[in-house]
Amino acid sequence: MSTTYDVIVIGGGAVGSTAAWRLAQSGRKVLLLEQTKLGSEASSAAAGMLGAQLEVAENGPFFQLCIQSRDMYDDFLRELYEESGIDAQLTRNGIVQVAFSQADVDQLQTRMQWQTAAGHRAFWWTKDQLAAKEPALAPALGGLLLPDDGNIMAPLLAQAAGVAAKRRATVMEGTEVISIDAHPDGVAVTSNRGTHYAQHVVVAAGAWAKKLLADVGVQFPVYPVKGQMCRIRPRSDAGLKHTVFANHFYLVPKRDGSIVVGATEEHDAGFNRDVTTTGIEQLLAAVRRIAPQLTDSAFEDSWIGLRPGSPTGLPAIGPLPGNPNVVLAAGHFRNGILLSPVTAQMIVDALDGAAWPKHWRPFLPTYELKESEAGTHSATQTGSTTQTPTAPTDSAFQAQPAKGVKLR
Ligand code: FAD
Ligand code: GLY
Repeated sequence: MSTTYDVIVIGGGAVGSTAAWRLAQSGRKVLLLEQTKLGSEASSAAAGMLGAQLEVAENGPFFQLCIQSRDMYDDFLRELYEESGIDAQLTRNGIVQVAFSQADVDQLQTRMQWQTAAGHRAFWWTKDQLAAKEPALAPALGGLLLPDDGNIMAPLLAQAAGVAAKRRATVMEGTEVISIDAHPDGVAVTSNRGTHYAQHVVVAAGAWAKKLLADVGVQFPVYPVKGQMCRIRPRSDAGLKHTVFANHFYLVPKRDGSIVVGATEEHDAGFNRDVTTTGIEQLLAAVRRIAPQLTDSAFEDSWIGLRPGSPTGLPAIGPLPGNPNVVLAAGHFRNGILLSPVTAQMIVDALDGAAWPKHWRPFLPTYELKESEAGTHSATQTGSTTQTPTAPTDSAFQAQPAKGVKLR
């Protein structure tokens, strides 16, 4: 006779491991299934920016969600450390968006205005202030400082969440889920290691979620958006104090003195995992353009990750329309590290039947995810070379009213 769980979580990235840990902390019996090893995919590849003010193009529910999750990070990391003994190295050093053209200046000053009007800190640095604060940068017209956006070490966060999940939940690695079926008491989840039963299943399968969701009749075209990254180490003292973002590329200084440089955003690469000469060329060109004093840095490492892209660039979180036993936590795209704490909270509250605040509502799978309602993702960054993400082939996610979630 198989064990029956309260919840099965599929996918052991930052989103799934955090959700499994929080669900188990809430007193539930939880099984976490991971096809390879916990934290081995996008969550370990990420730059680790907590870019709540960086990554959102307008005020609205998505901005509120990102700010809320960023504000949860101190407590989240403290608890994760107590549970796992792993410090994810939160650095609250701020992010500077650099303006190299008048169009950048206009766009960034608009951002500063709506963010300060919404009660958040955002300051303009003149070109002289910028040069004084960050001497390694190329001459620019100025920059927007977002002092409350920080960064963590994503691989450490993914590891910590995995260890925390293992302490509280049953974890099966090397276990690929093949199908999800209805069952009289909830769901039957079949993997390469047998069938597992639970009242609820949480689909947190990152870029791979589409097929599992199709199994339960949901056309949510999550698709992989490849990102190539590298790590450099400045040879001189010409490092960076802040994370720097310009023309869609970024340089994130880490506590160990290295700088993570990211990232390409490849919507048509599928599940390809190659680090390519073109990708690395783009990253190194960005270093030369943004911070020429860093071009003599040592080149330490390169890697790729597969972001879980969604049609709008926004996640879908919560119980499925007409099938509240199946809960989505998918499509976090560029912000799954930032959004892991709030996503877990949303899932626990949904399963508790607790009231949801209004700004969570547009992310329910009960909605057609309209940008106008949820907010706009940052694919419109200054000088972006990226198009607004669109799923290559599938029809958009269709949503119906769901039961089981109260709205505040
Ligand atoms: P993943 O970490 O990919 O985890 C999904 C897991 O599900 C995987 O381990 C996979 O093996 C497992 N799985 C899939 N299918 C099955 C199955 N059938 N059975 C069992 N297991 C399965 N976000 C930020 O907030 N800040 C950043 O600075 C940032 N930078 C990024 C830079 C790059 C280059 C990339 C690629 C991403 C970046 N992101 C960033 C985005 C972030 O990494 C993702 O949004 C986040 O990691 C998604 O987490 P996840 O748990 O949903 O997915
Ligand atoms: N959030 C940074 C990235 O996805 O590249």
